[in-house]
Amino acid sequence: MLTATPHSGISPRPDRAGAASGTTSGTARDWWRDAVIYQVYVRSFLDSTGDGIGDLAGVRAGLPYLKKLGVDGIWLSPFYPSPQHDHGYDVADYCGVDPTYGDLEEFDRLVAAAHRLGLKVVIDIVPNHCSSEHPWFRAALAEGPGGEHRARFHFADGRGPNGELPPNNWRAMFGGPAWSRVTEPGGPAGAPEPGQWYLHLFTPEQPDLNWRNPAVAEYFDRVLRFWLDRGVDGFRVDVAAGLFKHPDLPDSPDPEADERTRDSVNPLAWNQPEVHEVWRRWRALCDEYADRDGQDRLLVGEVSVPTAREHAKYVRPDELHQAFFFHLLSAPWDVDAFRKVIDEALTDIAGTGSTVTWVLNNHDQVRTVTRYAGEGCASGVSGTEPWNVDLGAARARAAALLMLALPGAAYVYQGEELGLPEVVDLPDEVLTDPIFRRTGSRRRIRDGCRVPLPWSGHASPFGFTSGAEEARPWLPQPDWFAEHATDRALADTRSFWHLYRDGLQLRRGLPQLGEGTLRWLDAPPEVLAFERGDGLICAVNFGTAPAPAPVPGTPLLSSGECPDGVLPGSTAAWWVTDTAPHPH
Ligand code: GLC
Repeated sequence: MLTATPHSGISPRPDRAGAASGTTSGTARDWWRDAVIYQVYVRSFLDSTGDGIGDLAGVRAGLPYLKKLGVDGIWLSPFYPSPQHDHGYDVADYCGVDPTYGDLEEFDRLVAAAHRLGLKVVIDIVPNHCSSEHPWFRAALAEGPGGEHRARFHFADGRGPNGELPPNNWRAMFGGPAWSRVTEPGGPAGAPEPGQWYLHLFTPEQPDLNWRNPAVAEYFDRVLRFWLDRGVDGFRVDVAAGLFKHPDLPDSPDPEADERTRDSVNPLAWNQPEVHEVWRRWRALCDEYADRDGQDRLLVGEVSVPTAREHAKYVRPDELHQAFFFHLLSAPWDVDAFRKVIDEALTDIAGTGSTVTWVLNNHDQVRTVTRYAGEGCASGVSGTEPWNVDLGAARARAAALLMLALPGAAYVYQGEELGLPEVVDLPDEVLTDPIFRRTGSRRRIRDGCRVPLPWSGHASPFGFTSGAEEARPWLPQPDWFAEHATDRALADTRSFWHLYRDGLQLRRGLPQLGEGTLRWLDAPPEVLAFERGDGLICAVNFGTAPAPAPVPGTPLLSSGECPDGVLPGSTAAWWVTDTAPHPH
């Protein structure tokens, strides 16, 4: 029998409208605190036009499916006009829709349809950089050194006798130097010649904006208002720990490391204190809208910083509402590693008064089924590893139940609810992720989780595209996608889909889930067990051997077969103790 030990650092928060009635997306102003949002990677969700690329009308057509799944809202990856060097994270016009994805009227129809179903709509916003096709950057190139548009970016003279060396040694996140040199237009008398350099923390087609220039902040205020006036419920803020760079742009102490990890290790280019001013400004702007109708407009940040304590600064009460806590995503499948990151999050982040925002998958990461299919946690895939996909799937199911039982909010990446593994063997010639090319074909991590979703049928395009037979999805779908198609998943009560749907439904019905207390329970060495609120138990067996079930009670849901009184290996389960309130 397991005994309860209290977790310090969290206390129950007062109940609020919506949560009590089990409607997380209900009437509460702070609806986001325990919401579950579904990430739609628009190009790969559903194609309504037959060009092989998903679009906004496709998303609209898929809304009833998402409603049935039971999420509270959607986050749309960027759909703005863009040359697509980084699939829309290179924005050429912040107030439009790329024709590939639709138009503003279609966007309005999508928002209206989502709202009719009670789903929130959160859109991606990319403030750290724009596209090299953005009118500001084009003007900056044309006007030459010293011009007003150059001051909105980081232009600098090079080092070396002829300025032939970059202004500093920073490396770009996606490989190569973080600086590119431009060709100056030349005056009436002079021919074009090599000139200044500009900074780009990602690809050369994504020049970094200079947030020390007030014109940049003013511009983004207008952009936020444009979309808020169209009815969006919030923004997912790209690269939210970026934006400000050290004012002197000095050399990085360890430039090679800057390329090795996404955790913002160049302390001169990331996580500068000034960035918090921007989040205060954006929060005040969003609160203006919330004050009008009593519904918060959510700011959820992509915050990659090394520690939970640093992370917590981004969700102080007057800053972002949420920030993805990636430490769970990057934890290896190991009981101690999971407990440590959960503990840190609940202590440091919940201590700010915010909630923790849990995430296991997204469009930048190897999918959980594959990540957990080997030893440790793969950060890249080579296609040659000895994957045990059944084991990965069992662990991914268990991790999902764990995530949905933790206090706070959660994000589910499209296809996660289908148990899609990563497509690890895409041929080089179809890969589109700029990281692949910019690292000399060394790193392949992001195309494999972006393959268009399978909806129905036995062969590609699996109902993804409504076009003619010859219409091909923009990334090829493997034959085995048939096993994961939504029509099969809905028909099979043992599928991932039903696990997610049942978990989400219980989460709404159980007063203990969502926000509230978590108490760790004593458990066998490979088992993580905790009690939520009054009598809701969640336990995960990280080992392979069966362990005794944590407490007597009524089983509610498990990620795999659970014989009475036993928690098999790689399995998670929820119980209610006999004295606890039961779900309605
Ligand atoms: C974020 C996005 C990623 C994109 C990068 C540059 O990390 O999630 O997809 O490539 O920012 O905008």
